Amino acid sequence: MTAITVTPCTGPGAEIGNVDLSQPLSDEDFATIRQAFADHGLIFFRDQTITPEQHIAFAERWGDINVNRFFTPVDGYPEIAEVRKEPDQKTNIGGGWHTDHSYDQEPAMGSILVARELPPAGGDTMFADMAAAYDALDAETKAKLDGLEAVHSSKHIFGGESAYKDSGDVGERLHNADAADALDDVVHPVVITHPLSGKKILYVNPAFTLRIKGWTPEASLALLGPLYGHAMQDEFVTRFEWKPGSIAFWDNRATWHYALNDYQGERRLMHRITLEGCALAA
Ligand code: OGA
Ligand code: MN
Repeated sequence: MTAITVTPCTGPGAEIGNVDLSQPLSDEDFATIRQAFADHGLIFFRDQTITPEQHIAFAERWGDINVNRFFTPVDGYPEIAEVRKEPDQKTNIGGGWHTDHSYDQEPAMGSILVARELPPAGGDTMFADMAAAYDALDAETKAKLDGLEAVHSSKHIFGGESAYKDSGDVGERLHNADAADALDDVVHPVVITHPLSGKKILYVNPAFTLRIKGWTPEASLALLGPLYGHAMQDEFVTRFEWKPGSIAFWDNRATWHYALNDYQGERRLMHRITLEGCALAA
């Protein structure tokens, strides 16, 4: 059998080839994929045909599945969340730069997103590499970030006060009974050491980071705004064009992502399995 290939993308991420995820992976093949995931924080697969059961089996090779509190599960598969946009919905899920679950004490490690129904055109996802973004900061900025912590929250996105909640898109899919768990603010270092790769990572994001701990909103914005502008630069970004059979697996600690909302009037349906993570340290 031909060996698995790992082909780095022009931007962040790598494409894994010569693999069929509908079949159980040998330990050797799994180790190759795991190494690619640690190195790149972002891997893609093409031309896969997998059932929900096979999606779950692949996810379970990596660790425990996080059952999502906010999104509707796929019928019969509580481990799989639907990331759905219907033709009559205007807003989408993930339509701005963010990383999932930074509002949790132990942020989810990552998600395995499988394309199920794609619009005829559009609906790409962009990913940004937060290890590369950190590396490229000047020494003075790195010194300034050293030792800082940031406060993260999901209240303004998923909570009772949020406009998003009442938009009728994401809001009606909340699992309200569990949502309260996510609403307490949490604190993480602004720069973390990645648990798998050991790389330094810029771990703040425009969606869920509220402020630098102990700083005013104004002072926080003055620091975070330019950092975000820096991290969004093209050199740190890959734009992934989904095709039938495409799968993306991102590491929330190493990347941001952004689901483009440029396919109004069309349906897009993805299946997402989220994997449990761990506490993050500087
Ligand atoms: C997500 C998300 C991206 C996409 O599932 O967390 O942001 O392209 N989705 O659907
Ligand atoms: Mn997301």
